Amino acid sequence: MNEKIIIALDFDGFADAKNTVDALPEAVFFKVGLQAFLKFGDLIIPYLAVKNKKLFLDLKFKDIPNTVFGAVQSALKFSPDMLTIHLSGGRAMIQKAIEAAREKPDLKILGVTVLTSLGEEDLVEMGMNMSPREAVLTLCRLGIDAGIKTVVCSPQEIEPIRQRFGAAVELVTPGIRPAWSAKGDQKRVFTPKMAIEAGSDYLVVGRPITQHQHTDEAFRLILQEIS
Ligand code: C5P
Repeated sequence: MNEKIIIALDFDGFADAKNTVDALPEAVFFKVGLQAFLKFGDLIIPYLAVKNKKLFLDLKFKDIPNTVFGAVQSALKFSPDMLTIHLSGGRAMIQKAIEAAREKPDLKILGVTVLTSLGEEDLVEMGMNMSPREAVLTLCRLGIDAGIKTVVCSPQEIEPIRQRFGAAVELVTPGIRPAWSAKGDQKRVFTPKMAIEAGSDYLVVGRPITQHQHTDEAFRLILQEIS
């Protein structure tokens, strides 16, 4: 169960990220996104390796297939356990990303469907005349057809995805807020229990744990809630 909670290390400096890792001896999985990767990726990635932690490298690749192939191959040097690409990069790009990861069979290539920051108006403005939910299901279909086995989605989309695709994909969901924590800028949130019950496989949790006065206690409370 410990592995189902992925802690987002969204910090400005290495010291805060390191302190969070140190405060969470029971946690297994940590997410390094663009901010942390660009600022102190050279420090935190080896640190997680030394501590025997799993790495979710959230760099959300989207480019021409050839470039993404090279990017995924280059990312292998960090030995990530999860790596994200945008499914909106198209079938050929998705297939190239999967092909590039072949030498590390335990690496999960995660397909990002629609960013939760985008609403229906944004999609219309971008020329996609469909609701975020339809767009998520469309991209999910494409991802599965192209060989993707794990998808990142908002908790709202868990049920529609499970209804349409059953257990064909694993789901990783951010936007998690325990009842006892502040929502912050996340608008439509699910509690850890709700997300797991709806069918999520991994929860990405940032501030409810990282900004909590007692980091370890926050982690344990969430673990208890989903166990
Ligand atoms: O602090 P919080 O729990 O909101 O952090 C959630 C993490 O999940 C952040 O790293 C954020 O970038 C990421 N995320 C998200 N919504 C998405 C995709 C990723 O909140 N749609």
